[in-house]
Amino acid sequence: MELLHNIIENKFTLGVIGIGRVGLPFGVSFAQKGVNVVGFDINEEIIRKVNSGQAPFFEVGLQDYMNEVSRTKKFTATNDHSLLQNVDVVIITVGTPLNTHMVPDYSQLFSALDKIVQYPISNKLIIIRSTSSPGTLESIVKPYIERKTNLKAGEDFFLAACPERIAGGKCIEELHGLPEIIGGISENCSRLTAEVFRKLNPNKKIFFTTPKSAELAKLFANVYRYVNFALANEFGLIAEEHGEDAHEIIKIVNEDYNRGKIPLPGLTGGPCLSKDGYFLTQHMPFPEFIHMASQLNENIPHHVISKLKKELAKENKTLVQCKVAVLGLAYKSGIDDTRLSPAVKLVDVLNGERCEVVTYDPYVNPSSGSLNDVVKDVDAIIIATNHPEFKILPTVLNGMTSNPIVIDCWRMFDGKELKGKYIAFGKGK
Ligand SMILES: NC(=O)c1ccc[n+]([C@@H]2O[C@H](COP(=O)([O-])OP(=O)(O)OC[C@H]3O[C@@H](n4cnc5c(N)ncnc54)[C@H](O)[C@@H]3O)[C@@H](O)[C@H]2O)c1
Repeated sequence: MELLHNIIENKFTLGVIGIGRVGLPFGVSFAQKGVNVVGFDINEEIIRKVNSGQAPFFEVGLQDYMNEVSRTKKFTATNDHSLLQNVDVVIITVGTPLNTHMVPDYSQLFSALDKIVQYPISNKLIIIRSTSSPGTLESIVKPYIERKTNLKAGEDFFLAACPERIAGGKCIEELHGLPEIIGGISENCSRLTAEVFRKLNPNKKIFFTTPKSAELAKLFANVYRYVNFALANEFGLIAEEHGEDAHEIIKIVNEDYNRGKIPLPGLTGGPCLSKDGYFLTQHMPFPEFIHMASQLNENIPHHVISKLKKELAKENKTLVQCKVAVLGLAYKSGIDDTRLSPAVKLVDVLNGERCEVVTYDPYVNPSSGSLNDVVKDVDAIIIATNHPEFKILPTVLNGMTSNPIVIDCWRMFDGKELKGKYIAFGKGK
């Protein structure tokens, strides 16, 4: 097979459609390994930044890789999809969000497919990396491309699902290290896809399965985490009810006990975990488990605010009279991604309560002043993201005359080091 030979010999061009949080680190990592990569996007701002050598978002190691591939000229970004003609392998990494009915929205995926089929695809390999519901590759993408091109998948062109499993903040490291789960339409489709990934790491572990199992594997992993985080949050609520400390209990349970490590409570969300369960709930007999996890996790910001309200009531205050600082907007520590972030939800709910809200996130807004300035005259502080930069909070507060209430959603502190009232999610009394 000529394409196989060309991939092995690195005589091919890789096209990445959608150079967002997944596609850009992906494309740049291949370029860093010497593969010629063209990144396609419809967002002019992203293209401009990338072509000027600037990472459009923060991701550990990405800027270093971009500096390197800017020098070698192995990666270019464009919105000119006619350049797909020059590409041998196309990987689709566009967004697959949910619509307002909580149903997957594949409009970006189909806009990418529509671009691909405008140009000859004979003997080319198309890999779907975006998250999708089980059956999307075989029952929707394959017949769609075949109808538009009159070509047959597995014979005239090659098609595989290989869903992305990296976590934001660890993209570069995990792209090299994580095993790939490949579900090709046929054996040759899988084989070609595996050779592409071996360009990243020749020793990469690769599992071959059906397209549907590959799609399911990705979803199982995320739903497992999400449901377990919901259960940990439920434990947090139960411990509070009993006036006890969920963190302490869970740490004792986990110590030298290998039958399942219980995660710690915290704000749970983000662009993958929050939505991926809904890629399964459409066609399953008992979707309640996933729905319940979602309801529970989505309710934690409200719960945290009700804890604050109770504390304020003890001082005869209501939220509308108060100024509250929310520390962190990103959905998790050490990143600048705010999509479906519970911290953002918390801010929205506080705004709905008409209290004065100030926010501080050194990753999301690196030029937004200092922690000192943000907390200096507030009634309460909510630690919504456990960025390590917030560890200095006790020192900052010790240097101030005021004594704001601190609500810690992550147990960054044990409370003793803070001079004012300290409240933690998952801790009663
Ligand atoms: N972000 C993560 O941590 C992560 C992890 C694993 C999997 N995923 C999955 O990977 C996929 C991509 O996620 P993301 O976070 O990178 O999304 P993103 O929104 O950051 O990036 C998608 C990009 O695709 C571009 N795009 C849309 N339509 C296009 C078209 N027709 N042609 C060219 N570009 C187009 C958008 O402009 C955007 O830049 C999703 O399915 C997501 O669920 C994401």
